[in-house]
Amino acid sequence: GTGRLVDRFGRVHDYLRISVTDRCNLRCLYCMPAHGVQFMESRRLMTYEEIVTVVRVAARLGVKRLRITGGEPLVRPDIDRLIEALGAIPGIEDMAMTTNALLLAGRAERLFRAGLRRINISIDSLKPDRFAKITRGGDLARVLRGLEEAERVGMAPIKINVVLMKGLNEEEIDDFLRLSVEKPYVVRFIEYMPIGHEDETWKEAYLPLNRVLERAAELGYEIEPTAVPGNGPAENWRIRGGAGAFGLIHPVSAHFCSACNRLRLTADGYLKPCLYWQEELNVRRCNGDEAALEAMFYRALDIKPERHEMAEALEGKERSHLPTVRRMSQIGG
Ligand code: GTP
Ligand code: 5AD
Ligand code: SF4
Repeated sequence: GTGRLVDRFGRVHDYLRISVTDRCNLRCLYCMPAHGVQFMESRRLMTYEEIVTVVRVAARLGVKRLRITGGEPLVRPDIDRLIEALGAIPGIEDMAMTTNALLLAGRAERLFRAGLRRINISIDSLKPDRFAKITRGGDLARVLRGLEEAERVGMAPIKINVVLMKGLNEEEIDDFLRLSVEKPYVVRFIEYMPIGHEDETWKEAYLPLNRVLERAAELGYEIEPTAVPGNGPAENWRIRGGAGAFGLIHPVSAHFCSACNRLRLTADGYLKPCLYWQEELNVRRCNGDEAALEAMFYRALDIKPERHEMAEALEGKERSHLPTVRRMSQIGG
């Protein structure tokens, strides 16, 4: 690229997360309410052509890594067509997707051929009943079929996202650690964030990730830091002798904002400088004009706050800006 996206705090932005839809075929407890979710009208969704134009500009400004998110990105028709077009943009070096994998079986090979090389799959429980409870109806066996197919076609490393919640899947830490020993997967434990529901239920279910390292020690595992391909905030470890690794994503107990390298594009075309805050810019106001889009990327950096204030939310303190009004399903994580 010709430019560089450096914000007021010296952070270089080379990672864009693209939400392609706010729709999802599940309703995970930590992400969406059971009822009453109003989805965007399809005419509000960014077309693939619009997304490609935004990414072409982003790539000129130094964005090299893309992640496709939702909602659930695989519910958007012909997503492999978008992936192929994005991969053809000069400067794009890495494309990955975050998915619940329900629609992955039967499609992994096409996605791989379109250029998708890495996939992160949300699996919050390894017990079918509990999985169905957390996802409000999800079929774990079907998800695992999708995972296995992704592995078979060569997507690597396969990452598994586990949002830890007190009283829900806390007791499965041991099983997930064991999975990282037995399989070449990267199991990522994630702290429950107050995106869209900063209330008592969040505070009660939130679990700091120190618990995972404590459990690993109690189980007698020898762990060491390890490097895992990726662009996100996970702190990665491996258990000595294990086939895979595990990662810790701890935005609440210890934020990682000083290393933030990412911007987000919502499905309705807003550039979102930070996951947690409300400030956003509407790229459609640029009407596809590339010079205007460039200027908007720089403006997004100018309004990006230094860090989120989820810890302040936990303690019931005032925040310095307004928290986002979008739900996690409308941001894509
Ligand atoms: P790779 O490292 O490239 O594999 O991707 P990733 O970890 O960035 O992607 P993924 O979508 O799997 O993210 C995992 C979890 O990390 C999700 O719950 C995200 O919401 C959370 N996460 C990702 N980026 C940020 C961030 O900038 N801030 C915060 N607070 N959480 C984030
Ligand atoms: N807190 C933490 N992670 C969340 N995710 C969704 N909602 C939350 C939340 N409230 C994660 C899921 C998924 C990714 C898209 O975002 O684990 O992997
Ligand atoms: Fe970046 Fe905001 Fe995430 Fe912090 S919370 S790492 S500033 S996107």
